[in-house]
Amino acid sequence: MFSRRAFLRTSTAALATFTNASAARVQSATRAIEGRAAAQVASDESYWREIQQAFTLDRTIINLNNGGCCPSPRVVHDALKRYLDVSNQAPVYHMWQILEPNIESVRRRLAAEFGCDAEELAITRNASEALQIAQLGLDLGKGDEVVTTNQDYGRMLDTWEQRVRRDGIKLTKVSFPVPPKSMDDLASRLLGAITPATKVLHFCHITNLTGQIFPVKQICDEARRRGIKTVVDGAHAFAHFPYKASDLGCDYYGTSLHKWLLAPIGTGFLYVRRENIPALWPLTPANASRANDIRKFEEIGTHPAANHNAIAEALTFHEGIGIERKSARLRYLRDRWATRLTQNPKIRLHTNLDPKHSCAIGTVQIVGQPTAKVIAKLWEKWRIIATPIVNDEYEGARITPNVYTTIEEIDTFATAMEEITRS
Ligand SMILES: Cc1ncc(COP(=O)(O)O)c(C=O)c1O
Repeated sequence: MFSRRAFLRTSTAALATFTNASAARVQSATRAIEGRAAAQVASDESYWREIQQAFTLDRTIINLNNGGCCPSPRVVHDALKRYLDVSNQAPVYHMWQILEPNIESVRRRLAAEFGCDAEELAITRNASEALQIAQLGLDLGKGDEVVTTNQDYGRMLDTWEQRVRRDGIKLTKVSFPVPPKSMDDLASRLLGAITPATKVLHFCHITNLTGQIFPVKQICDEARRRGIKTVVDGAHAFAHFPYKASDLGCDYYGTSLHKWLLAPIGTGFLYVRRENIPALWPLTPANASRANDIRKFEEIGTHPAANHNAIAEALTFHEGIGIERKSARLRYLRDRWATRLTQNPKIRLHTNLDPKHSCAIGTVQIVGQPTAKVIAKLWEKWRIIATPIVNDEYEGARITPNVYTTIEEIDTFATAMEEITRS
């Protein structure tokens, strides 16, 4: 059989072939801005040009829906393809014996970035899976109450609703204005809905609808004091703006890695505070001997190792930019279109631009025009992709740029919106 040493020789050679010039250019661009404040670098187009060139995009379209899932940089996508090629030689050996054990390096590095112990972090296929492990794995019975908001993610609400139908739990959904009055207002709406039957609070770290950031620690600390578990939906938060697990204080946290980390499609993680691991049931059952092991949540059967191993390359790319620089750039791009458009009386912004409240995401409405029509016009004339957000309380186009978005693309979007307001 292929020895480990022979494999390493071959893969090192392969690595040399795949090392791409754009990664080196990003590295040297980063060296050039070392020591400068993130806010200054946010508008340094010569730096961001190198980041833009690190992707293999279709620049005939302007993709302002990075809230769904994102393209990976070339270096990540190459790693994914390389691991798939290696796996396919003899998956039972190359994938299971060579690649799969290296998931532990990914766990260690993700845990370091998130700020938890590696033994508290399970790698999942997306945020839905991560959150559903918590939502469906908690022992809840008839009459137990879960408090959430009516702006939480649809699939996560559906998951709780299924428990209402199946287990007889009670679900309470609080509403809040957009933009909200204050962080305290958000906290008091959730905490104020707690009753003696409440066992769980479930809410977003940052919502997908308007990009509203929640005062997670304030809510979680109070919930903990009252003996209530907290499930935080961080699908949009990880690698978007700076924070660590200790800034949150939650019991369970689920995130996507194919959004802001730019890892391959089909990656996410679940954080479970160590003391909660034994009592949380996995979604896909595991042997009883693994009850205290975070890996019990990864017993999903045969799956590609390529996806989760290429997360390591995405982490390297992410760390190369640095979270402070990345979030400063994302806010710079968002503010560039938002401050211009809010000069127009026909434009209403549903996102608070204060950095404590939001980062890359902004939801904007043209008053008097149905959002579906605005989205269609953006696509038909300018090939701009934006997401319609329409609910009973408000509507608008959700705009999410990414590190690869150019100033010209942002300005084209703003010009397009101004033209649509006149139509
Ligand atoms: C707030 C929120 N939660 C959960 C999810 C689900 O994420 P995933 O598609 O990675 O399962 C999303 C996806 O957009 C989301 O925006």
